[in-house]
Formats: sequence, structure tokens, C-alpha cells
Amino acid sequence: MNIVLENRKKKDDEIEIILLKNTEKLPNKTQKILDKINFKNSNFNTYFEISSKKIFVYMKNKDRESIKIALSKALKVTKKHIDFYIGIKSLNKELKIEDLVQGFILGSYEFLKYKKKEKKEKRLCINIKNSKEQTKDLQKRLQDSLSLCQSVNFVRDIVNTPAQDFYPKTMANEALEIAKKKNMSCSIYGEDYMQENSLNAIYAVGRASRHESQLIHLSYKASNHAGMRTKNPKAKIVLVGKGVTYDTGGLSLKRGDGMVSMKCDKAGAISILGVMKYLSQSNLDIEVHAILGAVENMIGSNAYKPDDVIKIGNKTVEITNTDAEGRLVLADCLVYAQKNINNIDYILDLATLTGSSIGAFGGYTSAVLGHSEKLKNKISKASKRSGELIGFLPFNIYMQDILKSGVADILNSSANKNGAAIIGSMFLDNFIEKKYKKKWLHFDIAGPSYRKVNWGYNPYGATGAGVRLVVEFLKDISVKNQ
Ligand code: BES
Ligand code: ZN
Ligand code: ZN
Repeated sequence: MNIVLENRKKKDDEIEIILLKNTEKLPNKTQKILDKINFKNSNFNTYFEISSKKIFVYMKNKDRESIKIALSKALKVTKKHIDFYIGIKSLNKELKIEDLVQGFILGSYEFLKYKKKEKKEKRLCINIKNSKEQTKDLQKRLQDSLSLCQSVNFVRDIVNTPAQDFYPKTMANEALEIAKKKNMSCSIYGEDYMQENSLNAIYAVGRASRHESQLIHLSYKASNHAGMRTKNPKAKIVLVGKGVTYDTGGLSLKRGDGMVSMKCDKAGAISILGVMKYLSQSNLDIEVHAILGAVENMIGSNAYKPDDVIKIGNKTVEITNTDAEGRLVLADCLVYAQKNINNIDYILDLATLTGSSIGAFGGYTSAVLGHSEKLKNKISKASKRSGELIGFLPFNIYMQDILKSGVADILNSSANKNGAAIIGSMFLDNFIEKKYKKKWLHFDIAGPSYRKVNWGYNPYGATGAGVRLVVEFLKDISVKNQ
């Protein structure tokens, strides 16, 4: 374990991290230097006092996100040291152990799979001397936060892995690995099953790939202390994920520069795997089904084509753009879920669905759409607790005919691309049964799941967006489901 809670002074070789606001009194010498370098000129400025082995980080505000960002900035000041110490005055309302863990574990993540550099695991000692809480409770919260952060980093590792090393079968194997844990079970379906069970869209999208498409059904059911399945879990949740292990666009081929990074197109499914990994180490009193569509969208003589008509559930879809493949895969997964799982309380789908969601909100925010204000409220609260940003996009009646087709029931993509994130979601809405309309939310995570910049405590590349948000939502409904 790389974070410990101890009641002790800083050791000689440890670097102390000091998060500074305006009010703290510092030794004169240090204060003078900080004034000289205009330390308080910008948020998250850092100063490393080598003689005393202290890193100071300036924070304009001590809100929860700022604490995570400040901690991650401190870690970047020195490459040489790996032992850190934080001597917080008290772990109180302002300074939560969860935030220290997230800042530290998420902020020190590096993707080194394809680099010569070796991973140096950083360590942190949190001094809990003045904590008002029982050590046992703090330890429990530490374990829970570590488990969550490790799940986020697990997602980052996979999403960063290129398609040469991660394809639908690899995803199925990861799910089977998680299913070895108690409370978990998993079924994997290949292309024969898809053809026999009319899962025509997922089959069509993946047909030109040399890798067989996979439909993954991984589930979690809470158990009691005796290991028996709980009779009445608080809620039954279905999580549907877009797992396009590579998106070339298919025959509606992407331009070269637009294709770069499309290894990230599996992020929806992988974030859900991350949530399931977390659940496998928790004991939340809920039942959760992950339905993941794992396919590679390629070109080839057997590729699906614009003009093809594909039947999904009881609707026919005219393909106008093979690059709008995610919604096809998700639609089949949604149909599968509603057919095979009964009495669902919530259906959430996560997908890197459209570049348009990035256009709407900038790259840091997931776009969320749904029909229930109450459910949107719940997810807003989860967003605030988790630190993940969300923004809502509205359905609207003026766009309702935009997917009208001359030859089939609907088009998979409209000619006019304005508002594509809304249109993508409207397409999915066609495959949500009436009784589930108000129980469904769609998350377009195309922006925050993968960015080619470091931001806050997120690294270049994959971020694990969606994991903390969904886990917060699940935690909430596992205590009270109304
Ligand atoms: N995988 C892409 C969306 C995407 C874009 C993800 C940028 C991450 C970053 C998706 O399959 C796609 O190509 N969407 C099209 C939809 C269009 C054809 C309606 C898009 O966004 O242009
Ligand atoms: Zn696409
Ligand atoms: Zn895609």
C-alpha cells in the first residue's frame, strides 16, 4: 500500500507537502523567499525549499478539487524523491482523506507500458495526529478511496493501450478476470450468438475486423456476511458501454489526423469495467449489470456500408455514416439488456459518442441527456461529490424528425451535423422501452475521457472519466433508493 495513516513526525528523507492559503504563518526566511518569487500570484504555484525538504503549494481556494490539484502539482516538483509526508492540522470537513488519496494516487499516475523508464511507486504518509475521527474509520475510508483510485488507474492503463494490444477478446478477458471475485459473474457472447440472436448492429460494425466482436455481460450482486446473495438489493442498475477498441470510421473513413487517438473509443465500456472492479471490492447493497459492446470499426471487403439497412430490436436503421457506429453498438446492447434483465431501476450508458459534445462543453465536461429531471438531479449531486464535471444537453421537439429515413424506420446519422451530440442521444432514445424512459441517462464522455494535455490531477491521455461519477451515484442509491 502506498498511503499510510500514522501518528508520527516527518522522517528525514521524506518531503513534506504544505498546502498554503492566505492565512498560514510561515518562518520569516521562507516568507521572504515566497514574497520575492511572487508565490501568491497564481493559483497552484509551487516552491521547493530543498534545505528543509518542504514543498509549498499555493491555493486560492481550499475547495475539494483544489486540494486534489494542489497535491498532484506538488508531486511534479521533484522527480528524485518518492517519499512524501503531509502533516495536516486536522482531517476535518475542509480536508477529506478521500481528496488527499485522489490527489496523490490519480496525480502520480504515469503510463509507462511502452517506455524504457521504470515505474517508481511514490509513497505518502498522512499524519493523523489531530484527527477527530477514529483511526479505524479513517482506515476504512482510506481503503475505499484507494480501491476507487486504483480502478480509475486501471481504466487509464487500458484506454491508453493501443488497439494492437487491446481488442474485443482482450476486453472479454479483463471482464472474466474481474468476475473471479466474489459477488461477480460473467457471460461472453461471440459473433455466432450475435447472428443467432439478431444482434445485427454490433455484428455489422465489427464484421470487417480480424478480431471477433464480443458482447460482455458482467454482473455484481451484493451478498451478506455469510456469503449469501442479498434478497432485496436496494436497486437494479444496468450500465451499458461503448467498447469500440478502434474507430477508423469504417468506410466513411476518418481523415488521418482525426483518426489519431481513436484507441480511446473504448473508454465508455472500460470505465464501466472500472466501476465493476471497484464494486468487486465493495459490498454495496445493489445489483449491477454491465453490458459492454466490444468491437473494432474497420474497413474491408466485408465491411458494413452506407445505404445498408440493419434491423435493431424491432426497428430498421438506414446507415448513412459508418462512423456513427457507437450508437449502433449501444442500441444492440440496450435491446439485449431490456430483453434479458427484468425490473431495471436505472439504465446508464457511457460512450465516446460524438466530437460535438466536446464542441458544446469543451473537453473537460461529459454531456448528459435524459428524460427525468429527478434522475438528472441525482447525477448532478454525484457529479459534485466526485469532482467530475457534467453538463446537460436538451432534447427538443424541433429536431424530432431529423433522423427520418426514406427507406427504413430511422437513419443512423443526419445530414445536418449541428447538435450531433443531441442527435446521437435521440437515436438511442429509439431503443429505450417506454417503461424505462425516465430511468435512463446517456453520458457522452468523448471530451473528458481522453485529452492530449495534462489537466489538474489528470494525465495526458486517458483519465478514467465516468468511474468516480458512477460510483458516487451507486453509493447514493445503495443507501436509499427512491
Ligand atoms: N468515436 C467517435 C466520436 C469521438 C470523437 C470520440 C472525438 C472521441 C473524440 C464517433 O464514433 C464518431 O465518429 N462520431 C461522429 C458522429 C457523426 C458521424 C454523426 C462525430 O463525432 O463526428
Ligand atoms: Zn465513429
Ligand atoms: Zn466511435
